[in-house]
Amino acid sequence: MAEAVRLEREDEVAVLVIDSPPVNALGLAVRAGLADGLAAALADDGVKAIVIRAEGRTFPAGADISEFGKPPQDPWLPEVCNRIEASPKPVVAAVHGTALGGGFEVALSAHWRIALASAKVGLPEVTLGILPGAGGTQRTPRLIGAEQALDMMISGKPVPAAKALAMGLLDEVVDDDLPGAALRLARRLIAEGAAPRPTRDRRDGMRDAVAYEQAVAAARKAQGANRLPGPRRIVDCVEAALLLPFDQGLHFERTAFQELVASPEAAGLRHAFFSERRAAKMPEAASPARPVAHVAVVGGGLMGAGIAYACLSAGYNVSLMERDREGLARGLERIAKLQESAVAKGRMSAAQREADWARLSGVMDMAQLAGADLAIEAVFEDFDVKADVLRGLDAVLKPGAVLATNTSYLDVDALAAVTARPADVVGLHFFSPAHVMRLLEIVVGKATAPDAVATGLALAKKLGKVAVRSGVCDGFIGNRILTAYRQVAEFLVEDGATPAQVDRAMRAFGMPLGPFEVSDMAGLQIAWARRKRLAATRDPAKRYVAVADRLCEAGRFGQSTGKGWYRYDGRKAVEDPEVLAIIEAERAAKGITPRSFADAEISTRLMVAMANEGARILAEGIALRPSDIDVVKLFGYGFPRWEGGPMHWADGFGILQLKNAVQDYAEQAPDFWQPAPNLDAMILNGTRFADLNEG
Ligand code: 3HC
Ligand code: NAI
Repeated sequence: MAEAVRLEREDEVAVLVIDSPPVNALGLAVRAGLADGLAAALADDGVKAIVIRAEGRTFPAGADISEFGKPPQDPWLPEVCNRIEASPKPVVAAVHGTALGGGFEVALSAHWRIALASAKVGLPEVTLGILPGAGGTQRTPRLIGAEQALDMMISGKPVPAAKALAMGLLDEVVDDDLPGAALRLARRLIAEGAAPRPTRDRRDGMRDAVAYEQAVAAARKAQGANRLPGPRRIVDCVEAALLLPFDQGLHFERTAFQELVASPEAAGLRHAFFSERRAAKMPEAASPARPVAHVAVVGGGLMGAGIAYACLSAGYNVSLMERDREGLARGLERIAKLQESAVAKGRMSAAQREADWARLSGVMDMAQLAGADLAIEAVFEDFDVKADVLRGLDAVLKPGAVLATNTSYLDVDALAAVTARPADVVGLHFFSPAHVMRLLEIVVGKATAPDAVATGLALAKKLGKVAVRSGVCDGFIGNRILTAYRQVAEFLVEDGATPAQVDRAMRAFGMPLGPFEVSDMAGLQIAWARRKRLAATRDPAKRYVAVADRLCEAGRFGQSTGKGWYRYDGRKAVEDPEVLAIIEAERAAKGITPRSFADAEISTRLMVAMANEGARILAEGIALRPSDIDVVKLFGYGFPRWEGGPMHWADGFGILQLKNAVQDYAEQAPDFWQPAPNLDAMILNGTRFADLNEG
């Protein structure tokens, strides 16, 4: 424990070296080590100045998030920061890596800040539903004023060292040998007899009180509509920094921090943070990934082009294959457009575009894909078409190449079985738009080799995606839950709600769009084709809502045709009496007397449907752990991050309540509303989904 912080001595300089891998988070041992080391340095008359630096990857990346929600243990971080700032001997913070949150607050408490040019500093607490709670809201605006401080804290975005220097957050930036440079600075301070320079006494950013108040007022207005309390409380704290003496400002900040850290939104955001990192821990991660330099993408449609573009941007050589000249030209054009748009938005340099383009080749003959290390098929969602493509790839690819399918619903085991190398076949399910959405479902078939899975995981990392492991089932994790969600949305409409009401209820819950708005955006054709395909095998005893079929029969395919569940004035969705009449006719045909639903009941039913399907997915071993299901929904479907995901939501709702709700809803569709088989044992043992996340 004691070694979390070492006290070293360089002549008259005491160096506190923080050494607590992986990110030097400010857990109890580090806080205690800093406090003890500081006390020892202050007690030693031979010490004239103090340097705080860190070993390993980074200066502390923040408070230890895993300690939030548990009883606080002395010494508190704000107290440690105050003691550093109160040091009668000058203190220098030497920053490398990412000095974030509490880590940067430690640096702000030092009297001088020196950083490596590659370092970043930031206050990302808002992304965890909280605010800087160790003086950050009080010290930052003292240095750089309200406008920039608010921007840093409300966006949560880290600031590169050069910019931080220009802003006045840092005093010096060096290219290398940070420990040496920090020592030299400390020795210079000693030589100059420099007095400590506490940030609390500085007013650099507060000289123009009118501008300060204006920035606060503007931010307050901008955050007025934000449903999350964090940003609003940050504005309050920054205002308090101007209006209150420092110690009272700190007290104000502490009160706001404690209120936020205990909020359900912060718990949801913390869950999202750890769940994202946990998802990468799949059993196959221990296998070495197969080397991949050349990716083949078959199918240059919406998905294929996005996947190819993402792979090019990540540095892979890419071959795009299409069936004919026109298809290939369209696919390459799509990629070129994505590049152009990235250049126009300043996300890619023109030189980068050229270099990426030079690594792209377009082909129409599968034999030309022979050199690929990984092939991803993104052709039509049709078993026979995909099977043909996979057979073709099997025939030309070298041994050891990975064959991936981007299928949304088809059986990956059956697809693997058409090849002579099912161990090399894996599902890599991207989400649209493929270069934007962070989720990648890695679908592991019964024959898939562990190192083929590890290859998918390595690809995800290189593309900056969050990979989640899924077993094989219809729709895998994400689309299977989506199907349940849509099904209940349609039950609700047929039973008396309007599409607009259902959408409104889900937007109020926090979804960016409601289920019908999403359907209209994605287009109704593909699902319709699928329903027609499945019609012959549909169980007539199961409740089936045919409204979407009627819409398609009327040529209402969604936004692209100007009408779907809504009518469109440009992009604006307008409720359409024609749709309401179609719904009314369906109800009448089935003898349904419409009833009214409160918005809260609508969102609860839809959430219960998602959580119950998630539980079933877990019971079948399709998902490794509940938090993986949450990650799928958060990164692939726009689920509100502060709600943590459907399984985290279900923990808050209660497992017994979940089961009771499913049973209460049974009359709506007895075949659908069946409690997941694992709920009883969970209720009996008092287990929550969170208890099943470890590992
Ligand atoms: N507390 C606890 N654990 C943390 C942590 C933190 N602040 N930051 C990272 N970790 C853990 C991760 O969970 C992960 O653990 P694992 O290996 O067991 O999965 C490990 O450290 C490595 O993290 P990453 O996988 O994220 O590593 P990267 O190199 O990709 O990213 C990072 C490093 C940019 C520092 C990133 O981890 C990050 O953004 N961390 C959180 C930063 C943050 O939000 N800080 C503010 C905390 S709140 C605070 O300080 C309150 C204060 O104001 C009082
Ligand atoms: P799309 O219709 O836009 O593109 C398919 C492309 O494949 C077409 O350009 C077509 O010419 C080409 N193609 C067909 N047969 C081919 C062959 N034998 N050889 C070479 N090229 C061939 O379809 P989209 O939307 O890109 O979907 C592709 C796959 O991705 C499907 O399996 C789909 O289920 C899946 N998917 C789609 C998502 C979406 O939102 N559209 C999301 C996630 C997965």
